[in-house]
Amino acid sequence: MIQTDLPKLLLEWYDKHGRELPWRIKGGAHPNAYVILVSEFMLQQTGVKTVIPYFHRFMERFPTVKDLAEAPEEEVYLYWQGLGYYSRARSLHATAKMIVNEFGGKFPQDKENVLKLKGIGEYTVASFLALAFNQPETVIDGNVIRVICRMYGLTEPVPEIMDTIREKARKLTDKHNPADYASAIMDLGAMVCTPKKPQCLLCPWREHCRSKDNPELESIPIRTKLPKKYREGKVYLIQNDKGEIFIRKRNEKGLLSGLYEFPWSDERELFAEYKPQNTELEVSHVFTHFKLTLKIHKVKSNVVDFDGQFAALSSLEKYAFSTLMKKVYEKAYRNKILDI
Ligand code: ADE
Repeated sequence: MIQTDLPKLLLEWYDKHGRELPWRIKGGAHPNAYVILVSEFMLQQTGVKTVIPYFHRFMERFPTVKDLAEAPEEEVYLYWQGLGYYSRARSLHATAKMIVNEFGGKFPQDKENVLKLKGIGEYTVASFLALAFNQPETVIDGNVIRVICRMYGLTEPVPEIMDTIREKARKLTDKHNPADYASAIMDLGAMVCTPKKPQCLLCPWREHCRSKDNPELESIPIRTKLPKKYREGKVYLIQNDKGEIFIRKRNEKGLLSGLYEFPWSDERELFAEYKPQNTELEVSHVFTHFKLTLKIHKVKSNVVDFDGQFAALSSLEKYAFSTLMKKVYEKAYRNKILDI
C-alpha cells in the first residue's frame, strides 16, 4: 500500500470512532475560531475529561472573544480556578484583548501573526491553524509522538530524534483535511495507541505499524536516555621477581583491538592457581554501550600461562594502552600496590 493511503485510513476510522467533544465539529475546520482558542488553551496541560466542564462554564460566561476581552481579569481567573497553570488564563485574556484591539476582532490566520498572540507557541499555533482554519499544520503532542515512534519503529530516545519524528508526522498529515486529521491522530493516541495496553486490533494503521508485534511495544517511545549496561570484571597486575609486569596485545577485532592491556575478564576468573590478591581498588570506564568496572587484582608469578609478555615498568610508555588500562596502572601506582 502506498503511503498516501495512511491518512485516509485514519480519517475513516475517525469518522466512525473519533470522540465527540464540545469544542469539536467533525468534517473540517470549526466555524468558530474562538472555540478552538479557548479549548486549546485549556488542553495545553490538562486532560480532556477535566477540561470539559470548565470549557462549558467558560463559554457560557464569555461566549465571544469580545466578552472575554472586556471581562475583568479577576473574573477570568475565577472561571479558571481549579484548572491550574493560571498563567494560561492570563495569556488567554491578553490574547483576547489583542485580537479585539489589534486585529479588529478578527482572528489572524497566518503563523507569523498567530505566534504574536500571548501563550501561543509552536504546539498551539499548529493545532489552532489546523483546527480553526483547516491549514495543513502538523500537531506534535505526546500522543502524536507515541503514535509516530511506534508506527515507524523509532526506538532511540525521543529528544535525540525529534527532527525525524516531526518529519514523519509532517509527511503523514492529510493535506485535504488537516483539521480532522489533527483531531484524528490525537484521538488515535488517546484511545487506541495508548501508553499501556494499546488496542492494536482496533488500529486503522495496524497493517503498517512496525511495532505491532514488538513485545516491548509499551516502552515505546523511549523517553530517557537508555541506561548504559553495567559490566563488572577483574583486571590482573602480574609481576615477576624482576618487577616486570605482564601485558598482552589485544588481537581480536572489535573493542580496543591492537592496544595493549593487562589481562582482564568480566566473564570468568583468571589465574586462580596463582591466588590473586584483591587490592580493593577499582576503575570504571564508560564505553559506547556499557560501563565497565574492573577490580584490580595483584598476582606474583614468574610464569604466566597466557599469551603475552613481561615488560619493565619503565618501558610501559612505549606501548599503546587504552584509557581504561592507563587508569588501572595509574590507580595501582598511586596506591603503591606495584612492586617497584
Ligand atoms: N489535546 C490538545 N488539543 C486537543 C483536542 N483538540 N482534542 C483532544 N485532545 C487535545
